[in-house]
Amino acid sequence: MTPIGIFDSGYGGLTILNSIRRQMPQYDYIYFGDNARAPYGTRSFDVVYEFTLEAVKQLFANDCPLIILGCNTASAKALRNIQQNYLPHSYPDRRVLGVIRPTAEIVGQHTRTRHIGVLATEGTIRSESYNLEIHKLSPDCTVTGLACPMWVPLVENGEYNKPSADYFIRERIDTLLGMDPHIDTIILGCTHYPLLYDKIRQYCPPHIELISQGEYIAASLCDYLRRHPDMDARLSKGGTVRYYTSESPDRFREQATLFIGEMPKDIGHWE
Ligand code: DGL
Repeated sequence: MTPIGIFDSGYGGLTILNSIRRQMPQYDYIYFGDNARAPYGTRSFDVVYEFTLEAVKQLFANDCPLIILGCNTASAKALRNIQQNYLPHSYPDRRVLGVIRPTAEIVGQHTRTRHIGVLATEGTIRSESYNLEIHKLSPDCTVTGLACPMWVPLVENGEYNKPSADYFIRERIDTLLGMDPHIDTIILGCTHYPLLYDKIRQYCPPHIELISQGEYIAASLCDYLRRHPDMDARLSKGGTVRYYTSESPDRFREQATLFIGEMPKDIGHWE
């Protein structure tokens, strides 16, 4: 079996896996959530690189020819280094793709005011990756980023749909819109945030469009495989999905069921 690997620091990447499987159910997938070491968002550049590289090596050891970093923080802090320095000498025929570029590619078609907000982890915001990528494609856009350090812990700890989450959500949205009142499009630049979507929607003025990444990442992957039939031919197509976590598989099963809407069957443990 030669599955597509999908990686995140925790449960967030399951939102990406869901969208990808909806559009491309025919492939085999391996999902790895590094739950024991999540969140990554507040960790240093070097640590995120080291953890992400370990995950990539595990997924390669499990025969994935292609890996999606379903994590903005890892895409911001580790992807380029892996693509430029690790792959060429270790696995020149395998690919690792991220989630920031495909999101930056579509956002210019959504904003009318040309004022874009980005809500993400501290690591993603500090990296300035969204500003850089959006400006390459839509130089006329003003991009305002704001870190939401409480949001991933709310999701990882199963608090995301509780009333206690409301304060943290409203406060960040008000702060962002105070920084730039002309924003009409907000990127949810962390794959955990779709779980908070209903509450974010509730506290955002209705004229603001929220960009949730899943379907755009899936469409971009679909397009990538169309343009790279050689890679497509190498991927096995049995429609299976296996899950791995660095935490306890029982805890993963319970939480992941909320994310994917069904109980994941095949769950293993990776150190
Ligand atoms: N889901 C991840 C992201 O998209 C990271 C969350 C974290 O570990 O802080 O950025």
